[in-house]
Amino acid sequence: MASDTDIQQLEAAALKDLDAASDIAALEEWRVGYLGRKGRLTGLLRGLSSLSIEERRTVGRAANELKERLEEAHEARRHAVEEARVEQVIVGERRDVTLPGPPLPRGRLHPITQTMRDIVASLSGMGFQVAEGPEIEWDRYNFEALRIPQDHPARDMWDTLWIDYEKDGRRPMLMRTHTSPNQIRVMEQREPPIRIIVPGKCYRFEATDATHEWMLTQVEGLAVDEGISLADLKGTLAEFARQMFGRDRKVGFRCDYFPFVEPGMECRIDCFICRGDGCRTCHHSGWIEILGAGMVHPEILANAGYDPERYTGFAFGMGVERIAMLRYGVDDIRHFYSNDLRFLRQF
Ligand code: PHE
Repeated sequence: MASDTDIQQLEAAALKDLDAASDIAALEEWRVGYLGRKGRLTGLLRGLSSLSIEERRTVGRAANELKERLEEAHEARRHAVEEARVEQVIVGERRDVTLPGPPLPRGRLHPITQTMRDIVASLSGMGFQVAEGPEIEWDRYNFEALRIPQDHPARDMWDTLWIDYEKDGRRPMLMRTHTSPNQIRVMEQREPPIRIIVPGKCYRFEATDATHEWMLTQVEGLAVDEGISLADLKGTLAEFARQMFGRDRKVGFRCDYFPFVEPGMECRIDCFICRGDGCRTCHHSGWIEILGAGMVHPEILANAGYDPERYTGFAFGMGVERIAMLRYGVDDIRHFYSNDLRFLRQF
């Protein structure tokens, strides 16, 4: 049986629930629960049939008025909830455009690039010009013209990556094992005086370990002119070594063999770990080798068409990775090309 009191109670309960509905889903639930086909108000209206006509009229009107009020209240509440939601999104997404942005990770030059630039800067400061040559090379330039014929034991100094080619009538091709072929290339193209350096990648058919990589970077140096002597070579390399490793460095030379220089030698600096006393790093010699060098073999000058009675020259070649390892105290050459950011970020 529906009555005025029922209607008042229903209204109170409905408004209270409506107040508690704080999102669109809860509002919809409320609407279905009160105003829907099986809702509480609808149920109440259905109950009218059991009333007298007189009562039906008054209670019925009251119930219909309640329905209108509840619909209005629902609409208003829906509006408010929606507005609050929009407001929340706006506030939540507000950005302070005056704040500085998040810092971008800063790029830097690879340690080999940095070392290469320092080497080039030092030597070009002494009058050497940069030249370049191909990484794929003829056997002739990489070996033959450098006085390393087929079957010469010195070929073992450079384990070579050969390039497949059709053997008939073609000349053997390889990945250059050092930058020295450019001594020949430059001498073929120019007349003395020559002062050049050639930076570039070289390749060796080699198992990698802490001191060997199958790809390495070298810088070749060549000077040819009248009156060039071993003293010029020593002076140039001593100055270079001190620019790279510090002015207080001791620089030493020792005989070494390379088929394309005579005499041949290695250039070395005093060990910066033990300062010459002998330790593991310098194999207890007190010295650390930094490059190979020597006076250009007169036969090579003659082959280039220069008069070896008139011209003399010196050449040197160094591994950039080795120089970088010594400068930065890196104990494994493989770090340079393993792309580990923890290593690279230190430079
Ligand atoms: N090309 C030699 C090497 O790769 C280095 C070298 C260059 C030695 C020039 C002497 C003169 O080991």
